[in-house]
This record gives sequence, structure tokens and C-alpha cells, in this order.
Amino acid sequence: MNKQVHITEVVLRDANQSQIATRMPRSDFEGILETMDQAGYYSMEVWGGATFDSCLRYLDEDPWERLRFIRSKVKNTKLQMLLRGQNILGYKHYSDDTVRAFVRKSIENGIDIIRIFDALNDPMNMATAIDECLKAGGHAQGTICYTISPIHTFENYVELGRKLESMGCNSICIKDMAGIMSPKVCYDLVSALTKNVSIPIYVHSHSTTGLAQMTLLKAVEAGAAGIDTAISIFSGGTSHPSTESTVYALEEMGYDTGVDLKVCQKINDHFKPVQARFLKEGGLNPSVLTTKIDALNYQIPGGMLSNLISQLTAVNKLDQLDAVLQETPRVRKDMGYPPLVTPMSQMVGVQAVTNVLLGERYKSISKEVKSYCRGEYGAPPAPISEDLMKKALGDEKPFEGRYDDTIEPEFPAAKAYLGALAQSDEDVLSYIAFPQQAEAYLRSREEKKALKVSYTIREAE
Ligand code: CO
Repeated sequence: MNKQVHITEVVLRDANQSQIATRMPRSDFEGILETMDQAGYYSMEVWGGATFDSCLRYLDEDPWERLRFIRSKVKNTKLQMLLRGQNILGYKHYSDDTVRAFVRKSIENGIDIIRIFDALNDPMNMATAIDECLKAGGHAQGTICYTISPIHTFENYVELGRKLESMGCNSICIKDMAGIMSPKVCYDLVSALTKNVSIPIYVHSHSTTGLAQMTLLKAVEAGAAGIDTAISIFSGGTSHPSTESTVYALEEMGYDTGVDLKVCQKINDHFKPVQARFLKEGGLNPSVLTTKIDALNYQIPGGMLSNLISQLTAVNKLDQLDAVLQETPRVRKDMGYPPLVTPMSQMVGVQAVTNVLLGERYKSISKEVKSYCRGEYGAPPAPISEDLMKKALGDEKPFEGRYDDTIEPEFPAAKAYLGALAQSDEDVLSYIAFPQQAEAYLRSREEKKALKVSYTIREAE
């Protein structure tokens, strides 16, 4: 029998997020969901990450309603979401009661698999979400964020993999958010993990540097259970290798993906005009479609590089870019080599720019970096440099123990504050995650409802 390889289609979440800033409204995909359900994907990543924020902030959509709608049309394929562990979908640490309620409600509303990650690869920051996911009957996928640094060795990744397995995870994802994992490293890493843990390994990469297609193939050859791809019209560049070409190549090599390329064609035909509209209206910048090898040269994600450039451009100091690119790895080292993923990439980047522009290292330190030094983001991969600790905290002692245990439950206060505005626990969770956006959304929903009522009354008269 042919070896099976699971394909996760990510067009609705990560491709949407990576190429068009998560601006795809439900109307762009509602008509194709039933067809997608017939494609034979192992799972579809459709929710979490930035989709939640974007629904409330830009699309005037209730993210929970979006999920329920997708579930009503996708009856066979597993639905998957991305969750930032203790940060759920936001950028700060939330209380355990919030994390548990969010995970439970995600599963109740239709999610099967939750990919749980932490920017620092700190298992403690994933523990509550994993525990609740398992209790609620979900598939908990623990995540290893892939990054390159002197302390991110195979031994450390394998140790994290073992830890995630011991915490009860059903599978592990190696998440290469910057697209910098080479085919050889991927082969060796997947091999090392499959030798040392017994749960399946999944690999997620981005096409940004052009390595991903080769990297995914080596992942499969090394025994990965599954990989993430995007339907071709939304593939490549900052997105992912294309579903159809990956399936084509794997099937020819004797792997069984279960994916029907004829159905993929229908799905691709559906998304072609959607992509064309984003391209025409400026929501899709053609520069995200090309291969950029900067991340390999500077070992920083492409998104972070463009942020650094725009920060320097804003203050008319683009001539300092080289200095900033040299300062960035130094700051990262001082901070204990955090993986450069949200929110660490922003914290490291802003600090490097500040250090260069002020002409003195750590003369000014952001509130976030101070919190990080205090231990509020969890354990850094390596110790923070003594110099940075002293400049950030002075005589203050860093936090000992688990910071999250000190956060008061958030749900009761949020529920009381919203009153009748919240019609469900989901509404309360939206508010806890994104207070301003959710409140604005809930108020406009009330107003629309009031309008509809008065219209109905006039009709009746
Ligand atoms: Co990604």
C-alpha cells in the first residue's frame, strides 16, 4: 500500500493572511466550501491567527459566525485553527479562564484540530490550551517554532518534541514561519523527531525564500505525516507551496494524498477572480508573490525586514538600515535568542531600531521588552544578558514562577461590562480578545438590529 501523506489546505487562513493581509470576506469563499469538502484534504485551516481580528476590525463579520457557517458547509473534512497558546489570538498573556473558555468555544463551534504555538517555544505557555483542547475532545497539535540560533539545536527541538508528547499532544507541527528551513535541515529534523517521539509530525513552511517546495518534499521523505499547502492561485511568495503541484509530485512518487486534482481545479477556478480583484484593487501587492532570499541572508523573516524598512523610512533614516540589520542579531542574542515570530519579532526589531537611532544601546527600552525581562512572556530560550536585565529592570527582581497564575480571571468582568450587548459567551470572548474592535462590532450589530425592527414595524403598519 502507498504511504499516506496528509494535505492541509490553508487558503482560507494562512494564505489569506500572508498574501492579502487576511482581508478575504466570507462572500469570497462561501460558494466553494462544499466543493472544498470534497477535495480529500486531511484538514482545512480556516480560523485563528489573524482571521479573528480581521473579521471584527475590517470585515464587519462575527468570527464565530464565520466558523459556524464554514462548519455547516464542510461536513467531512477536519477544520483546523492556529492559536498563540496563552496569547490566544492576541498579543498579551490572558488568564487561564479566558484561554480555557476560548479553546472550548472554538471546538464547540466546529474546530477539530488546534495548532497551539508559543513565540518562545515555552511549553508552559502552551500547557493550558493543550490541556483544555484535550478535555474538550479536540486534537491538540503542539508546535515547534523553527528558528536559527546557536542554542536552537536538534537536541533542543527533540527535547521540546518529547515534552509536547508528554503533555498529551496528538501531533507536532514544525512551524517554519519565515521559510528559512532548508530541505536538508528539515529532513534531519523530521528524522530526529520521528525517532524520538511516537506522535505524527506535520511541517508548515512558507515559500518566501523559495525553499519550501523542496523542504516539504524532504519532510515527506523523512516520514512527516502531513504538510500544509495552498491552492495554486494563492500559493507562492509569502504564502505556501501550491496544493496541486505538491499533490502531483507526491502521487507520482507513490504517495497517497487522497486529494482529487479535478476538484482542486474547480477550487482554483473559484479563487482566480477573487485573486484578480485583490490584485486590481491593491489588496494584493505583487511584491509578495516573488521569491526573496533576504531572510536567508539576514536570518530574519521577510515581514520583519519590511517592518524595519518602513520604521526607518517613516523617520527618514533608511540610510541606517545596514546598522539596524547588524544590531538586530545582537539584540536577539541579548534577549536570549527568541524565535522571530509575533510578538518577539516586533519587540526585537523596534529595540534594534531604537538602539541605532539613539546612538546608544538600551538608552530607551520599550514597555514590552521590560515586561519580557520581568518574565511576563514566559521563559526565554536562553538567559537574557545581564547588561540588558540591569538596564531594563534596575533593582527590580524578575518574576519567579508562572506569571499567568497572577492574572485575574477576565471573563466575569467582561461579561458584566458588556451587559445586554453580549448575547453569548462567544461575544464576551471576542471582547476580551479585541476590546475596541469587538465593542464597535457589537454596537453596530445592535444598531442594525434596531433598524431592522423599526423597518418591520413600519412594514406592518
Ligand atoms: Co504560517
